[in-house]
Amino acid sequence: MNISVITSDDLDYIEFSRLQQEAFADVPGQKERLLIQTPDYYRWKYNTPAGKAKIALARIDGELVAANAMFPLTISAGPTRIPGWQSCDTATLPKARGKWLFSKCLHELKLVLGQDDFFFGYPNKNSESGFRKFKWVTIDQLNFYLFAGLGKASKGAIVCLNDRLDCFAPQFKGFMTDDTVAIERSYEFLNWRYLSHPVYTYQIFGYIEREQLLGYIVLRKVRFSHVKFGLILECWALQDTVRTSLYKFAEKWSSRNGCHATMLLAINNPIKASLTARLIKVPERLTPRKFLLMGDVQPIRHLQENREWVAFAGDWDGF
Ligand SMILES: CC(C)(COP(=O)(O)OP(=O)(O)OC[C@H]1O[C@@H](n2cnc3c(N)ncnc32)[C@H](O)[C@@H]1OP(=O)(O)O)[C@@H](O)C(=O)NCCC(=O)NCCS
Repeated sequence: MNISVITSDDLDYIEFSRLQQEAFADVPGQKERLLIQTPDYYRWKYNTPAGKAKIALARIDGELVAANAMFPLTISAGPTRIPGWQSCDTATLPKARGKWLFSKCLHELKLVLGQDDFFFGYPNKNSESGFRKFKWVTIDQLNFYLFAGLGKASKGAIVCLNDRLDCFAPQFKGFMTDDTVAIERSYEFLNWRYLSHPVYTYQIFGYIEREQLLGYIVLRKVRFSHVKFGLILECWALQDTVRTSLYKFAEKWSSRNGCHATMLLAINNPIKASLTARLIKVPERLTPRKFLLMGDVQPIRHLQENREWVAFAGDWDGF
């Protein structure tokens, strides 16, 4: 058995896609996942504005039997920026399971991380205990909410930014406040994450008043158990009334696009203060899966103090 860590430039994307499809064949959500388990998707995901992904590959007699990848992002915590590496595409072929290959791949990836790099991800129920053994802890959980349509909106214009994201480029970083920890939003990140996605189509809408961007929302249509939803991938705003306007806009957009409801997937914190009363939490048994945000918090322990994590559906690589 041999384990190597390579950068995305050296990956055989066809071989890797085959491994992913076979390893995930028994995990619910297969039909939707096959749309993205393609060489084009991994080529996109493994080349982020923050750099190239690193992939641990385990081989037995030359055959690729397990892998774990991580792609780089920037983590923003008040005035500080640190490198973050999001774990993904954790996969071992059924015939090779129970031999610690997943754990060994994780250890190899850890060896190539910088001392202050933050390693994190959203394990599913198959990998959660493996990540716990690897000393990851739960930071928070993304919950599903339905918007109840209440609240006072304000009167600015809401326009599609897909074709002119660059016009507002300097403003996106301004949504990250001093008291939050989050994947840094920037023009480069949004352009890569949403507008360059090889499979899914997203719409980015901005709330504009006197040529200033006061908030934005990212939307996509999804289907859970034959029900169509307008999914809010993320929403950032400088004022609560702007946020409410964007949520109300999302509802209209969903119904115009034939969706039955508007769904938000987010950590409690960003919505707790202003919107709790206007959002209905969906019971976990009715949701497609659990989204635990986990990681090795050692490098960010001091940055998390007195700050709250903000994370949304768009932070996860599957939506
Ligand atoms: C999750 C997954 C990657 C684990 O791969 P794996 O290589 O079998 O993982 P490991 O061998 O390191 O550990 C798996 C389990 O076997 C146990 N194990 C490993 N070697 C063992 C051994 N020699 N004797 C007894 N138990 C052993 C581990 O304790 C672990 O138990 P746990 O699940 O209770 O933590 C694999 O099941 C998979 O590909 N699943 C489908 C895809 C998926 O869901 N991926 C996760 C996406 S987030």
